[in-house]
Amino acid sequence: MAPSSEPILEVDGLVKHYPLTRGVLFKKQVGAVKAVDGVDFTLGKGETLGIVGESGCGKSTVAKMLCHLERPTAGSIRFKGEDITRLSGRALKAVRRNIQMVFQDPYTSLNPRMTVGDIVAEPYDIHPEAAPKGDRRRRVQELLDVVGLNPEYVNRYPHQFSGGQRQRIGIARGLALRPEVIVADEPVSALDVSVQAQVINLMDRLQSEFDLSYVFIAHDLSIVRHISDRVAVMYLGRIVEIGRDAEIYDHPTHPYTQALLSAVPMPDPEARDRRERIILTGDVPSPTNIPSGCRFRTRCWKAQERCAVEVPALAVPAVFRGTGSLAAHDSACHFAAERQAVTGEGGRRNGPA
Ligand SMILES: Nc1ncnc2c1ncn2[C@@H]1O[C@H](COP(=O)(O)OP(=O)(O)O)[C@@H](O)[C@H]1O
Ligand code: SF4
Ligand SMILES: [Mg+2]
Repeated sequence: MAPSSEPILEVDGLVKHYPLTRGVLFKKQVGAVKAVDGVDFTLGKGETLGIVGESGCGKSTVAKMLCHLERPTAGSIRFKGEDITRLSGRALKAVRRNIQMVFQDPYTSLNPRMTVGDIVAEPYDIHPEAAPKGDRRRRVQELLDVVGLNPEYVNRYPHQFSGGQRQRIGIARGLALRPEVIVADEPVSALDVSVQAQVINLMDRLQSEFDLSYVFIAHDLSIVRHISDRVAVMYLGRIVEIGRDAEIYDHPTHPYTQALLSAVPMPDPEARDRRERIILTGDVPSPTNIPSGCRFRTRCWKAQERCAVEVPALAVPAVFRGTGSLAAHDSACHFAAERQAVTGEGGRRNGPA
């Protein structure tokens, strides 16, 4: 779907720090888990923004803040130009209808004791104005049909369905209130590879049918490629690189993105042979103790002294500014560069393997 430039979501300086406390009776704050540490992006109407990053980098926390399941420590979220960050009461309820979440695990996110009909209709309990009581069954059956399930299944229970079918149920529930934005938090990560494509194709079709804008989260760049118009790569609570699909996949300039891409399975064996795999050494640092300067520096094979003292801004790197190249997109690296053939440059820590 062609995204329009009109933003539906604008996220500015979003932060979520969970206090780290010690003591039972007298809780004392001794630090903070910096789960999300300054995230900015916009989502255009009708657009899909993929958010990718390793487990623990803050993706779900961003998703929860967008859907008002968590309150940001700082920063703002605007929906169609209106600041919705600190709404409460009726105003909050009205906005919440418009931004719905689809969860990762279709095995645990559906209540096993509820029928599929009740699960899909659950949002109507909170927003009764969305569907008159007498009309709910018909609406639920319509939704099941829309996501490719037999409408006669309304009285069945989640365990009677396969993983892919359960995720379709989760999607039907996400659509019940006819939202404008869907935040899908790793919607296919728990599914078999063969089923993943079906669910992604379904979401793609629903996007045009229901005029939806998507934030689509995954831990793997290959999953979001086909559905995303733009992709944001997260590391340790921040976006390190963001751009249009071709910019990120074909012209990444951040070492972390380059490392992630080097690990993505490639269908073309020739391209696979030409490619070098970058193996990142070391663990992701703890979000309670984020490295100074560039947060990626402890695992970056290009790190220099400057990286320890200066935080790189997420911006178009000076070397690419005005070049018209696809490398001219936001990348938070002091030494952003397209990756050259790196053979023969051995001996570097974390270097290409
Ligand atoms: N309620 C919470 N209290 C404390 N720490 C949390 C909480 N929720 C998440 N975290 C921590 O925040 C970091 C980011 O978590 P999360 O957003 O779930 O990452 P992701 O979805 O990318 O795997 C992790 O280190 C996680 O342990
Ligand atoms: S700023 Fe330095 S440490 Fe960070 S990604 Fe760039 S080269 Fe690596
Ligand atoms: Mg998560």
